[in-house]
Parts: sequence; C-alpha cells; structure tokens
Amino acid sequence: MWDQLKAHHEHVKNRRFETLVDADRAEAFSAETSDMRLDYSKTNIDADGLGLLIDLLENAGVGDKRAQMFSGGKINETEGRAVLHTALRNLDGGPVFVDGEDVMPGVLATLERMEKFAATVRDGSFKGQGGKITDVVNIGIGGSDLGPAMGVLALAPYHDGPRCHFVSNVDPADISQVLQGCNPETTLVIVASKTFTTIETMTNARTAMAWMGESVAEPGAQFAALSTAEDKTAAFGIAAERVFGFEDWVGGRYSMWGPIGLSLMIAIGPDAFRAFLRGGQAMDVHFRSAIWRDNMPALLALVGIWHNQICGHATRAVLPYDNNLSRLAAYLQQLEMESNGKGVSMDGADLDGPSGPVVWGEPGTNGQHAFYQLIHQGKRVIPCEFLVAARGHDDALHHQHQLLVANCLAQSEALMKGRDLDEARSKVAGKFEGAELERQARHREFTGNRPSVTITYPQLTPFVLGQIIALYEHRVFVEGVVLGINSYDQWGVELGKELATALQPIVEGAQSVEGKDGSTAALVDFLKRHGV
Ligand code: F6P
Repeated sequence: MWDQLKAHHEHVKNRRFETLVDADRAEAFSAETSDMRLDYSKTNIDADGLGLLIDLLENAGVGDKRAQMFSGGKINETEGRAVLHTALRNLDGGPVFVDGEDVMPGVLATLERMEKFAATVRDGSFKGQGGKITDVVNIGIGGSDLGPAMGVLALAPYHDGPRCHFVSNVDPADISQVLQGCNPETTLVIVASKTFTTIETMTNARTAMAWMGESVAEPGAQFAALSTAEDKTAAFGIAAERVFGFEDWVGGRYSMWGPIGLSLMIAIGPDAFRAFLRGGQAMDVHFRSAIWRDNMPALLALVGIWHNQICGHATRAVLPYDNNLSRLAAYLQQLEMESNGKGVSMDGADLDGPSGPVVWGEPGTNGQHAFYQLIHQGKRVIPCEFLVAARGHDDALHHQHQLLVANCLAQSEALMKGRDLDEARSKVAGKFEGAELERQARHREFTGNRPSVTITYPQLTPFVLGQIIALYEHRVFVEGVVLGINSYDQWGVELGKELATALQPIVEGAQSVEGKDGSTAALVDFLKRHGV
C-alpha cells in the first residue's frame, strides 16, 4: 500500500491542486460534526489517493486497535498498560473494564471530589492562612503542565476563579518570578506529577513549600497533589483529602481530562470543566462511529501521513487564528512528538520511513509578520493547519474578529494560488523596466500549490476545546497505528534525564569532570570559571 501511495504521488505531484477545488471537492474533501468542520480540499489528495490512504488505515487494523483502546486493552505494549484517557470523559458512557474491573466508579468519584474541592476554593470556604485563595500555582512539567496551562489560556473568557500560574522549568527564574507576584497566605500550590519523582517538579515543589513556610504556619495545608503515586504525596506532607489520584492507564500527555486538569477546573468552574469533558466525549463518539471518509481524526491523520511519509514534508505548522490558543502548538508538540517521535516499530524493528512530523506554530495573525515569508516562498513545503472560530468573545469588537477570519482564509488561498510571474510583472510594471523589471518581478512571484487544512468551529467554548483536544489525540492514535509504533511510551526522554543526574555533582563541583567527553568537559570548565 505504501508503494502504491508513493507511485500515486509520483503521478500527481506536479499537478496544481487549485484546479481541482470546486464546490463539489470542497464538500467531498471535508468532514463535519454538529459544530466543527475540517476542510482538507486545499491539498493534492484526490479520490484515488484518499482511497489508498483509507486502505492503508484499514490494513493497519486501526478499527480493531480503536476497539481495544476504548475497551481497556493493553495497547501500550512496552509498558503493559491500557490507554484509557477516554474513560476520564466517559461521563455517561457505561462501564469500562481494566483487568476485569470497571474503572468508571473510581473515575467519577475522583471527578466529584475534584469538583467539591474546586468549588470550595472558588467560593472561599477553603481558606489559606490569610483567607480566600487569590492565586493557584500549578507546579508540573510536560503533560502535568501543558494541558492545564494551554486550557486556562484557551478558556480565558470563562475564567472566573482565582488567578492561575504555571511553573514548569527547573530554571529558578520560572518559580521565583511567579512566587514574587503571589501572597503566600492566599496561595494554593498544586503539585502535579504523575510519578511524583520528576526532578524539576519535586525541586520546584520543595522551593514553594519553603517559600510558603516562611509566612504560613501550616504550609502543607495550602498544598494539593495530583498523582498516581499516592504514597509519595503523603511522604511529601500533603494530606490525603487534597490528593487526587489517577491510574497508570492515563498517559501524562493525555491527562488534562482528569486530576491534572484541577487548576483549569478551579479557573473556569466545575460546570464549564464538565462541558470540556463533554466535548471530548462527543469527539470520542464521532471517532468511534463515523465511517473513515467522514471521520475527522482519521482524516487528519491520513492527511498528515500523505504530507509527511508520502510527500516528504517533514514539518507541519499549526496556526490558530485564535489568540487564546496561543499555547496549542506547545501542547501539540508534546502530544504528537512525544507520542509518535519513535524510531522503532511495536515489534522492535527499525521504522522503514520517517516517524511523526515536527510540529510547530504560533497564532495568526502574528505569525504572518514573522515566519510566513518562509512558508510562502521558502524552498521547503510546510503543510499548514489553520484553526478559526466564527465568533470571538467580544461582540463589541466583532469587526476585528471578521478581519481575523479574513486573514485566515486569505492565507490558505494565497498558499494554494500563489502568484505567477505575469501577475508579479504587472505589480511592478511602470516602476521598472527591462531586466530590472524581470528581476523585481521574480522576487514577487510565489509558486503556490502549498497545502493546508482548515478547522472551523462556532466559538472557542469549553465544549469546542474538548472536541479539538480529543480530535488531536485520536489523530495521534491513528497515525501511530498506521506507522506501527507505540504512541504511549516515551523511552527517548530517559537518557537525557539519566545524564543530567550524573552531571549534577560535576556541575556542583562535588565530582571531577574526568571521563566526560572533551566538549562537555570544556563547557563545564567555562561555566565554572564564570560562576556556576
Ligand atoms: O519527560 C517525559 C515525561 O515523563 C512526560 O511524558 C510527562 O508528561 C512529564 O515527563 C512529567 O511527568 P510527571 O507527570 O510524572 O512529573
């Protein structure tokens, strides 16, 4: 199937897909749920290509794997774990069994405990030493940070709880700048760590405890913990009533639906958080029931595979024309690159082709004035993914929102159409002539024929955000199954952690640099001479 797809690509690669895009194609190469539309008609995928891509997906057994995932099968084979973040949003979907035990009563009980706690923080009945909580500091990294941090920004119009801050980096600049702006007597610190061993998080958590201990008699009483390792949270000094646990079948980068989402729940309130969960659940229902041709996560994955594995475009830009999604690209970098950045297939063999793509991006229109030049004229093709809402949250400024939408649509059109040399000449005719006119025109020429996908929705509500995040999660799942990799482990990040632990005593001066490579030794030497 891969060979057939590559042969098909050879056959169509020089075609201008602009010539294909009429109203019929726009309908045939798009998918809709009740309130979301995915348009991939501005790509070079045609009916034959789509047929081959769907065959690829079917041959890979995506349907069976999907059934296994939703029913608690241990599809994370290298760690022997189920993959059940979907259970966290399965609000009324019936039992889900892991090792013969229904996990739903536990999931729903934890959700209710979180809701009660969040409500008390929001209404002031949970107090710090100085009274009602004004600031929440979430300390976590990777999946224990990016989801709630992205979500709090995304849902800013719904934020009516205390201020939320996120500390992730072990760089002291991060925590000291956040704590400087908080009153310890009215601050709640949430230590978010699935394992409760991550060195950055535990170091920052101790720093926060010491900071609070300087002015609060019982600092531990203003701490909560989110973790699978409840024994470790107790040892850290956080009472069980403020510990919200989850199971190892929730991967870190898939965890914002459960306890790791506590800071988001405190910010927007339990009802809005439930709406977020319902959005995720709605996308689960869509993913499980829509035929592949109408199935948004499957289509998004197949478009990505076409661009990366077949066309050879190694990166993908995610460009939300939605300023509140300013951390979406960072969130997706972990979700996609930690999940599908693998070099080995499930059976231990080397992957034949590239793994998942490099994902990057920034909100529009800002990106237009920064890196879009390269997207339009650079020699590498960068498939783009636009996201845009029909409405913003400020009716009085709807005219600005309309300008935002116009910019978004203009970009995908410009990428597709480009500007040919004749048109470029007409832009400079009158100002230049002869060879200079030709030279100037060449600089204003764009090849076009550059693919993009557009995702639109009515408004970025909690329900819609839930759909967007679940859409991307399932995209990662489909891509991982088609590539034959395990999307749910992350062994590649371990080596760096081990070497950092070994380097710490060298940097601190307790151990000699002997045995390290010349480059590392010279860098340590320079840093030591300058005060590390
Ligand atoms: O560095 C990898 C990783 O394990 C991520 O997968 C995870 O989200 C992050 O570290 C944080 O882990 P924890 O929640 O256990 O602190």
